[in-house]
Amino acid sequence: MQKFIVTGGTPLNGSVRIAGAKNAVLKLMAAAALTDEPTLLRNVPRISDVMIMREVMRDIGFEVRRVNGDAVQIAARDAEWLFVPLEAAMKMRSSFILLGPLLTRFGHVIISNPGGDRIGRRPVDLHVNAMERLGATIEYKNGYYFARAPQGLRGARIEFPYVTVMGTENALLAAVLARGTTVIENAAQEPETDDLIGMLRAMGAHIERTAPHRLEIEGVERLGGVEHRVIGDRLEAGTFAIAAAVTGGEVEMSGMDPTHLGAFMEVLGGMGVPFERTDDGLRVRAADGYQPCDVETAPYPGFATDLQAPLAVLMTQADGDSRIHETIYEDRLDYTMELVKMGAVIEVQDQKHACVAGPTQLHGREVTIADLRAGATLVLAALAAEETSVISGVEHVDRGYEQIEAKLVALGAQIHRIDA
Ligand code: EPU
Repeated sequence: MQKFIVTGGTPLNGSVRIAGAKNAVLKLMAAAALTDEPTLLRNVPRISDVMIMREVMRDIGFEVRRVNGDAVQIAARDAEWLFVPLEAAMKMRSSFILLGPLLTRFGHVIISNPGGDRIGRRPVDLHVNAMERLGATIEYKNGYYFARAPQGLRGARIEFPYVTVMGTENALLAAVLARGTTVIENAAQEPETDDLIGMLRAMGAHIERTAPHRLEIEGVERLGGVEHRVIGDRLEAGTFAIAAAVTGGEVEMSGMDPTHLGAFMEVLGGMGVPFERTDDGLRVRAADGYQPCDVETAPYPGFATDLQAPLAVLMTQADGDSRIHETIYEDRLDYTMELVKMGAVIEVQDQKHACVAGPTQLHGREVTIADLRAGATLVLAALAAEETSVISGVEHVDRGYEQIEAKLVALGAQIHRIDA
């Protein structure tokens, strides 16, 4: 087990290159399974989720290898074993994104329910219903979905009751090779979903966004290999923007598109954090003080749930009470307990609402990371704190942030990793 040792209080200054987006690349890798031609993905981040996806795809019989530093080549010529095991699903829920492409291309797949038999939190019912709408037969036994479509899938109308990002993407990945037209209502508009659409179109798929929340797909018989560059990670960029603001520094981020941050930019501006767009990213500066704000998480272009916890650290530095309303997940306020240990004043009203009082001086403490975004949050808090923090559960951060401590050290932070 590894830990971060962070001594706070140093302003972060300089520039940082934002890596390719985790929530795009995993779906782009899955898209490469739709063709027997080789695909080259560029700007692939070195994060553990990509390594897990690589192993899962290799076990299926696909060739996946890193070439030239930031590129990954995938050749999904044939599958030996249309099976995604429980081990993969336990490590990474997004392994479920292979359901659509494997089913539509090969006509069957056995795939683990992420979390095994634990249905309830973060279920995949909407993915499964979408495949059934497309004509698949799906049986659920012993924690596995046995999905079959021996005659191939056929186009259908899929209406999600609310926006699901991976649900939309799974339906899309299946529909591109289905016979006829598929219409997806209440489709996600996340930049990562649009990156996937861009790659699928380049592979030969016919996809139109006929309304902001509607996708229309005309199935084709086969898709071809492409070269595609993964978009920059907006969530990593949001994290560094907050790091500049809470440490009193100035950070320039390159390799990302600030419009991908949606409502986050308005919130940053509203709190009084000065920023400017650059040719290739964003420059963010600290101010002497910040205004409190109220945020409600929502699908893109609303305020991203993945930046809700990191923003709470900035809220601790604002002058007054800020309010959080988490609308996407039921357990995304657990990190507040760790922030409170560090001196934050946060009242959690119920599983969805919290009030953060500021400004407060944060203090170095021993804290534990419970998930990826909570990890970024505790690192931010430790950078803003007086004294030294010891942060356990670093492996959660490695899932989605490429070399976070090396990037922070280059900006002047005092952070290092130890084996514990
Ligand atoms: N939901 C269901 N049934 C389903 C699918 C989703 O009830 O079949 C519920 C979820 O439990 C949740 C809501 O619908 O309450 C929305 O979930 P969504 O399906 O949109 O989430 P996701 O696609 O599984 C992606 C990102 C998450 C991000 C969410 C929301 C990837 C790999 N993951 O998850 O990212 O929080 O969208 O924007 O794209 C992260 O990066 O830390 C992360 C968790």
